[in-house]
Amino acid sequence: MAVTKPAQASAPGKIILFGEHAVVHGQPAIAVPLNAVQVTVTADPASPGSGLSVHAPDVGHTLRVTPDHDPADDPLHNALGYPLQVALRALDVPVPDLVLTVRSTIPIASGLGSGAALAAALIRALGSALDCPFDNETLNPLVYEVEKRHHGTPSGIDNTVIVTNQPVYFVKDQPIQPFTIARPFTLLVADTGRSSPTHITVGDVRKLFEAEPDRIGAIFTHIGSLVDIARWAIESGTIGVLGPLMDTNHALLRDLTVSSDELERLCHAARQAGAWGAKLSGGGRGGNMIALADPAQAKPIAEALRQAGAVNVITTVVTSPEDTDQTPG
Ligand code: PMV
Repeated sequence: MAVTKPAQASAPGKIILFGEHAVVHGQPAIAVPLNAVQVTVTADPASPGSGLSVHAPDVGHTLRVTPDHDPADDPLHNALGYPLQVALRALDVPVPDLVLTVRSTIPIASGLGSGAALAAALIRALGSALDCPFDNETLNPLVYEVEKRHHGTPSGIDNTVIVTNQPVYFVKDQPIQPFTIARPFTLLVADTGRSSPTHITVGDVRKLFEAEPDRIGAIFTHIGSLVDIARWAIESGTIGVLGPLMDTNHALLRDLTVSSDELERLCHAARQAGAWGAKLSGGGRGGNMIALADPAQAKPIAEALRQAGAVNVITTVVTSPEDTDQTPG
């Protein structure tokens, strides 16, 4: 299929502020986009008959995408090829002659939504190149389809926050609820450097729940109640409440067995350096943690996190989408 238009698309990372894991089991969660990290995809027309390929120079791979070859056990195909197959099916068009080039600053399997962002940017770029741009309502279920391939039973929070690029209060299978951030607040996002696939932690929490439904169900409910208090705090600008809520949410995630020595060390270091609260964010057992801080304390806390082993620290101001200010630091 002839393609005439070069195109470019991107998608941000995301941070879950409260409620990960419990959200898979029907509790609410709150997440915000992280624009300091991004996936960008450029689409360039290729010579007639050359077909569709994805080039990922950062990881040194090029993948040819055909409609029928769908090796579900190949992580590279699932990350780069499967989103395009899903998009081609949705558009109901033949395979175009196109080269998509992917660049990403979102660490893989680290709780920042790399899989959903990659899928969103790939599908957007393909749609634009074919002059059939996807609106967010159409894109979101397609990215969710890809998330199912990655995670098995995703709640849908990652695709929702990444596609809409808005803070969301999210409950599985319910309409999206954007919410307002009355007063901006500063977070540090620190990477343990250990990647941890979400489907493993989600699967382990599920097994735990099946083995001990009363105890684990009570933890999920407790996390859900923290999320609702956090929503009220964020919407009313009562930021002082958030730190202790983060600490409690982290302790409950530890009870769900998804913390790790590295995450404990980073959370402890952040609190010792003056953070108001700290917790793991995302699937856990690695990936990233977040710490809430007085902006004036962000630098020393970032330094303390690095000293405690963080391989990367991002300082970000969580605010309304209109006036986002996120800087690596
Ligand atoms: O993919 P991650 O690591 O950002 O984690 C997603 C959050 C979970 O609640 C653990 C899973 C889900 O599908 O909501």
